[in-house]
Amino acid sequence: MVSTLDRLSYAARQTARVAWYAGHYAAGRRLLKPMPKPDHPVGPTPSRQEMTADMRGLFAREWRDIEAGLFPAPRPLAAEPAEFLRRSLLYFRDLPAVDARRHGERDDELPPGQQGDGLPDYYRQNFHFQSDGWLSEDSAALYDTQVEVLFTGAADVMRRRALRPIAEWLAGRNQRDLRGLDVGCGTGRLLAFVHEAWPGLRLSGLDLSAPYLGEARRVIGRTARVKLIEGAAEALPFADKSLDLVFSSFLLHELPPDVRLAALREMARVVKPDGIVVIVDSIQRGDRPSWDGLLDLFPHYFHEPYYADYVGGRLGTLAAEAGLAVAETEHAFLSCITSLRPR
Ligand SMILES: C[S@@+](CC[C@H](N)C(=O)[O-])C[C@H]1O[C@@H](n2cnc3c(N)ncnc32)[C@H](O)[C@@H]1O
Repeated sequence: MVSTLDRLSYAARQTARVAWYAGHYAAGRRLLKPMPKPDHPVGPTPSRQEMTADMRGLFAREWRDIEAGLFPAPRPLAAEPAEFLRRSLLYFRDLPAVDARRHGERDDELPPGQQGDGLPDYYRQNFHFQSDGWLSEDSAALYDTQVEVLFTGAADVMRRRALRPIAEWLAGRNQRDLRGLDVGCGTGRLLAFVHEAWPGLRLSGLDLSAPYLGEARRVIGRTARVKLIEGAAEALPFADKSLDLVFSSFLLHELPPDVRLAALREMARVVKPDGIVVIVDSIQRGDRPSWDGLLDLFPHYFHEPYYADYVGGRLGTLAAEAGLAVAETEHAFLSCITSLRPR
């Protein structure tokens, strides 16, 4: 049962988040050198008002689900105030290096090629133009700020839309009997939200980045209910049909096409026949035709080598090839939440 106070506190917290990250966004724009326009055609883009209204609608939908008792209001996952500010500083400190990479003045720090560390070549890149790509503690500490600035405070709420299909699928099941996995869990935000909502679930988070997993442990806290595993999405260390719930946020668009398909095949392999796979990732071309231009611009401004390929395809088609069928989709601002069932 939620009270008026709960609603006010939810609204105040989300408004403060959006204001904080929108402020970073505006300051960042002033600090970055203007980029030349892309030399490829760009589709239509929505107005700022349309995007703001859409984001508001997203928070309103989440609140309705909380009121309906599908899952609890999210607890703030932010670090202590001093640490929170340090992350903000780290973000601004990294901006000149990000800018230099955007303008092609620095692009050789994580070159593909044999590095002898066992990580795949496609993985060793400065994704988002961020220093160290996925490969350092500093990068892990500033990743969440960077992503929230990009989405002006809406990244977490987009991730949390995965909670609705999970809640509906969980109805009538005993969470203590169930095992779940977050594939490419990164700094563990979605994993933390799922754990907070259903603390009885036995969860694992898997990622190739040890520093990101370190940050995930900090966010989630010490609990035997959540294991963190260094591993690859395309070779999941789980037996066939051994997991009830598999979820993943903002991973698939970071993978080359063959690895993306391999990762989906692995999810299809490990999930039980009556289980569910929930994917949160970018909307794709044609999902919201009047927003297609944003999908054209994104990889131009951020280093996203596989994004254009991802948004140019259909997740449903790829999932079918992997042995999964779409049960439901929801568009949530710039992302799409897709629930899949084994075929
Ligand atoms: C854009 S981040 C998304 C992280 C997190 N799920 C989120 O919602 O923010 C992509 C994550 O995928 C991880 N990753 C990329 N390729 C991977 C692979 N082949 N196997 C496992 N993790 C991978 C990266 O280390 C990074 O943490």
